[in-house]
Amino acid sequence: MEIQIKTHSKEETIKLGKLISGFLSRGSMITLTGDLGAGKTTFTKGVGAGLGIEDDINSPTFNILKCYFHKPLSLYHIDAYRLEDVAPVQKNIGLEEVIEGDGVCLIEWPMFIKEFIPNGSLNVDIHLVANDERLLTFSTNNKGFTGLFEKLEEKYHD
Ligand SMILES: Nc1ncnc2c1ncn2[C@@H]1O[C@H](COP(=O)(O)OP(=O)(O)O)[C@@H](O)[C@H]1O
Ligand SMILES: [Mg+2]
Repeated sequence: MEIQIKTHSKEETIKLGKLISGFLSRGSMITLTGDLGAGKTTFTKGVGAGLGIEDDINSPTFNILKCYFHKPLSLYHIDAYRLEDVAPVQKNIGLEEVIEGDGVCLIEWPMFIKEFIPNGSLNVDIHLVANDERLLTFSTNNKGFTGLFEKLEEKYHD
């Protein structure tokens, strides 16, 4: 499944993240691709807000993993940017435990830890079109996200 949505401001991208949050459950995994400054962290802020997390979600680049514990769903935010040149054996940051945890996991720069990313994740690719315009491409082979894709079609492509 694949759908493309254009946003025209960071607020619109946050709103989209909030909408997506309603379709997540324990163990949901979202990979976020796109250049620096595309809007991956901004999108994550929206997901966090939608889950009811009040802490400010900012870039975890220097921490790699930030945990926002919350009920019923926690948010685990990973930024693998600094793991690019790290040997695979040293990249085991306990992702399995995070995935098995009580929450959802969003991963920026997933290609640098691809060995640890399970099938069934939702990829959100964000492309800078111009100024405040971004093209977001949602794709997955996970049938569990069918409801989400139907909602996105209905809301953005009617
Ligand atoms: N439509 C948009 N969606 C998301 N961010 C936008 C948009 N328009 C402008 N921006 C700006 O682009 C930047 C995106 O930064 P960030 O989310 O940290 O990117 P990344 O995590 O991909 O490096 C922010 O400064 C944000 O305000
Ligand atoms: Mg970021």
